[in-house]
Amino acid sequence: MQDALGGVQTVLVLGGGSEIALATLRRFVGNRTRTIVLAGREPEKLAPAAEELLALGATRVETVAFDAEATDTHVGLIDDVIERVGDLDLVLVAFGVLGDEAEAERDAAAASEIARVNYLGAVSVSVPLANRLREQGHGIIVVLSSVAGERARRSNFVYGSSKAGLDALFQGMGDSLVGSGVRVLIVRPGFVHTKMTAGLDPAPLATTPEAVADAIVRGVERGSEVIWVPPALRVVMSVLRHAPRAVFRKLPL
Ligand SMILES: NC(=O)c1ccc[n+]([C@@H]2O[C@H](COP(=O)([O-])OP(=O)(O)OC[C@H]3O[C@@H](n4cnc5c(N)ncnc54)[C@H](OP(=O)(O)O)[C@@H]3O)[C@@H](O)[C@H]2O)c1
Repeated sequence: MQDALGGVQTVLVLGGGSEIALATLRRFVGNRTRTIVLAGREPEKLAPAAEELLALGATRVETVAFDAEATDTHVGLIDDVIERVGDLDLVLVAFGVLGDEAEAERDAAAASEIARVNYLGAVSVSVPLANRLREQGHGIIVVLSSVAGERARRSNFVYGSSKAGLDALFQGMGDSLVGSGVRVLIVRPGFVHTKMTAGLDPAPLATTPEAVADAIVRGVERGSEVIWVPPALRVVMSVLRHAPRAVFRKLPL
């Protein structure tokens, strides 16, 4: 039932305030998703998103507290969500911080925060998540990685390295879950116009949360394991990944 989008009735979003996540939920609710849990640092701020999703046709939208940095709360959070709403058909891992690269290169605290949220937080929450989904015997984990993690660029290597760790984590987890009924979809967008990138110069092939949402829906329907948004980035990144270091570091990326 979970192989088709119509089977995705219950969704948990970790990072419930993400604009990409909200665009994705609009698509899911337009199909058959009815129960949604939005997990974010300030649950009260998720109320407008919850109201919108209810107006679009969801029948139950709950908001819960989730801080990626509060790693000692993650086992309890996953248990609590499943106790409230039952089996999870799909979990969208959407939290993340871009940070300020110039600051991160000079300030250990700023650099560590990016790593703690994007990588350590993902490690911590993904373990109880995978355990519970394995017990259920079904479910899809969709994780918002980034092309930035495919090869660390001079201009954002702290963020890029955190996404490289996240991406590797979920690749391995996806492999470990083969045969369990649970699968992992890794999403590698390029530059997406959201509040995370507001005020930055768009990169080539910049895209929208809606385009990422459409790609996620297609990826879930098709049973994809990794997708790039836009798809042309797959080819671009394949070339860039293999460019010699001396050339790569001079590219205006
Ligand atoms: N925008 C892009 O160009 C782009 C490209 C590739 C990948 N991505 C990835 O896509 C994901 C979603 O990003 P977005 O573009 O939708 O940006 P966004 O709207 O800024 O969403 C990021 C979300 O992460 C949450 N978050 C930050 N720190 C957290 C913490 N410590 N604990 C829990 N939640 C935390 C934020 O919560 P608050 O609302 O509380 O701040 C926010 O809801 C991120 O993982 C990002 O790295 C984005």
